[in-house]
Amino acid sequence: MKIGVITSGGDAPGMNIVIDTVITLAPQYGCEIVLIKNAYKGIIEEDFLDVKTIQHLNYRNDGGTILGSVRFPEFADTELRKKAVKILNSHGIEALIVIGGDGSFQGASELSKLGIKTIGIPATIDNDLSYSEKTLGFDTASNFAVEAIERVKSTIISHHRCLFIEVMGNKRGDIALFSGLATNADVIVIPEMKKSYEQIVAEVKEVSKRQKYIFIIVSERTYDLEKLATMTKKEANIDTRTLVLGHLQRGGSPSIFDRILGMKFSYKAMELLSQNATDYCVGNKGDEIIAVPISEAANAPLKRHDILEKIYKKIEKGKE
Ligand code: F6P
Repeated sequence: MKIGVITSGGDAPGMNIVIDTVITLAPQYGCEIVLIKNAYKGIIEEDFLDVKTIQHLNYRNDGGTILGSVRFPEFADTELRKKAVKILNSHGIEALIVIGGDGSFQGASELSKLGIKTIGIPATIDNDLSYSEKTLGFDTASNFAVEAIERVKSTIISHHRCLFIEVMGNKRGDIALFSGLATNADVIVIPEMKKSYEQIVAEVKEVSKRQKYIFIIVSERTYDLEKLATMTKKEANIDTRTLVLGHLQRGGSPSIFDRILGMKFSYKAMELLSQNATDYCVGNKGDEIIAVPISEAANAPLKRHDILEKIYKKIEKGKE
């Protein structure tokens, strides 16, 4: 079987591990891998690569994706999908491994309906696919966030300041919750535990009564960071700064956790394709690697971290 591989959506550390692992595993399943550049757009543009062109490159543990990625909303068009299937058929490609997030999986599901066998591998730093405990890249990104927060701590403490740090998450608070707890942040603001601007400022004011420096971790796309800083400065009378970690969180070599997870996901994807499965995505539940129909994955109930949220509330209370 000829299997196409694409990386799609925002890049995530660990994507290259998957590419390299499926290339290594394929011959043992009697399969051949065709690499496709720049996500779904690369199919339409027939931007295909022979594995030999990258095999000598030492890219496996690099951040990003050697195949490139583009967001390609045009692929929602049925005619374009049919064109993609025609192109894949003309190259003898029967199956596709799609490495990306939920939007990318929807494309995979539609291609499956048109006769291409598809398997999704969850890769996004946001950890926003509820059917899987972890997505590839989340561990690396949160470790980076922790390092950045700890680095900036010294200057904030030295200057007795308040710092609002915005982390990524695409309307999900996992990076903020995990990195905030790991760094013992004074206040954590995530969409899953919604607070008003006034509530946040009141909490910061409370903290300012017992310490001269304050760290607040805010998940992106939820609050206007500058507005929070201005309100805090006024209400709590404390010198306030903001820091957006931004795309730095997407870079860097994958952590050990992401490396191993990438290998496990790759193995499961090859096993599924060898059993002629299609329209599935792989994921994890602790150490167990699972396979879930893409439609089921898309409708999975919102993932919450109840214990972590409870711990956060207790710690917050304990500090009062
Ligand atoms: O989905 C990954 C992510 O990094 C989000 O956390 C962020 O909101 C978004 O992508 C940024 O997208 P772009 O790289 O297109 O600016």
